[in-house]
Amino acid sequence: MTADLNALKTDILHSISAANDIGQLEETRVAALGKKGRVTALMSTLGALTPDAKKEMGQALNILKTEISAALDARAALLKDQALQVRIAAESVDITLTPRPQPQGSIHPISQSMAEMMAIFADMGFSVAEGPEIEDDFHNFTALNFPPAHPARAMHDTFYLPDAPPGEAGNNKSGEDRKRLLRTHTSTVQVHVMQNRKPPIRVIVPGRTFRSDYDQTHTPMFHQMEGLVIDKATHMGHLKGCLIEFCKRFFEVDDLPTRLRPSFFPFTEPSAEMDIGCDRSNGGLKIGRATDSLSQSWLEVLGCGMVHPNVLKNCGLDPEEYQGFAFGMGVERMTMLKYGIPDLRTFFESDLRWLRHYGFGVLDQPTAVTAV
Ligand code: DAH
Repeated sequence: MTADLNALKTDILHSISAANDIGQLEETRVAALGKKGRVTALMSTLGALTPDAKKEMGQALNILKTEISAALDARAALLKDQALQVRIAAESVDITLTPRPQPQGSIHPISQSMAEMMAIFADMGFSVAEGPEIEDDFHNFTALNFPPAHPARAMHDTFYLPDAPPGEAGNNKSGEDRKRLLRTHTSTVQVHVMQNRKPPIRVIVPGRTFRSDYDQTHTPMFHQMEGLVIDKATHMGHLKGCLIEFCKRFFEVDDLPTRLRPSFFPFTEPSAEMDIGCDRSNGGLKIGRATDSLSQSWLEVLGCGMVHPNVLKNCGLDPEEYQGFAFGMGVERMTMLKYGIPDLRTFFESDLRWLRHYGFGVLDQPTAVTAV
């Protein structure tokens, strides 16, 4: 009898370990322990046995049932685990794959410098004004006190455009507003602002300007940042304070040496140019105070002055009542000095290697920019 039970056990355990999925395993369970299963059938024979034999056989069958159940559970767990592994393998992502390169742009140094300048002037209470790049002779020259045949007009290497058709809008009767050109400086916007706003005025004007010139320090298109302050009490001391503070913050040098040199612009009187100190020791160029006086030299950074009474008059303001100052600077020049870029022409060559080297990340942008 025991030998029979052993053979039955071996047989059932064998079929359990041969079951390859949960369905087959269930069939094996039913064949052994189900209502018509082989072990169940043996249980029903117990009643016909003698009490001793019944006890012995009953115990043996119970042990057998327990062993079979344990084997079924173990096999079920194994099969479930195998199925899970197969599913995981099928659904897995190959993280060893090299990622596709993501194109990443950068902020052009000119945009960066303009944003820095605007942030500094915004802190001083300036707002941003803009004007057209295609201008007329009146706004570019006449209103700014350039007399008709004045040599300063020739100095601007102006790009002239075909005259505007007669009768097209303009505010100057002599026909100067028909003579079209690409603005040679952002000072034109001073005229628009004074014609259209009532003082007090405190604006900066970032923008493109154009002159027919091309070499290491000139390109036909370049950028300027203009400034204009008009009210009843502003004087040269305000101009100085404003521009010295601007240069210190822009170049990030607290003890930056600065000086104003007398100069000439038709639209300001008096006029000046501002220089900043740099250190030329050891053949280098570093913005800031030099360690010894022999290495101290000067770099011109901007033009400025008190707005000429004729300009106020030409723009409809009474020079007896109003006064103020103006300034203008080349954005490329300021950027070359601040970031050590040697050749102006490279700004506009769109060379990706140059842009990657000198460009700025989006998060490097100054945050104080307002009113742009
Ligand atoms: N417009 C001048 C230029 O392009 C720069 C300039 C000088 C602007 C003096 C000003 C100023 O407003 O006051 O060379």
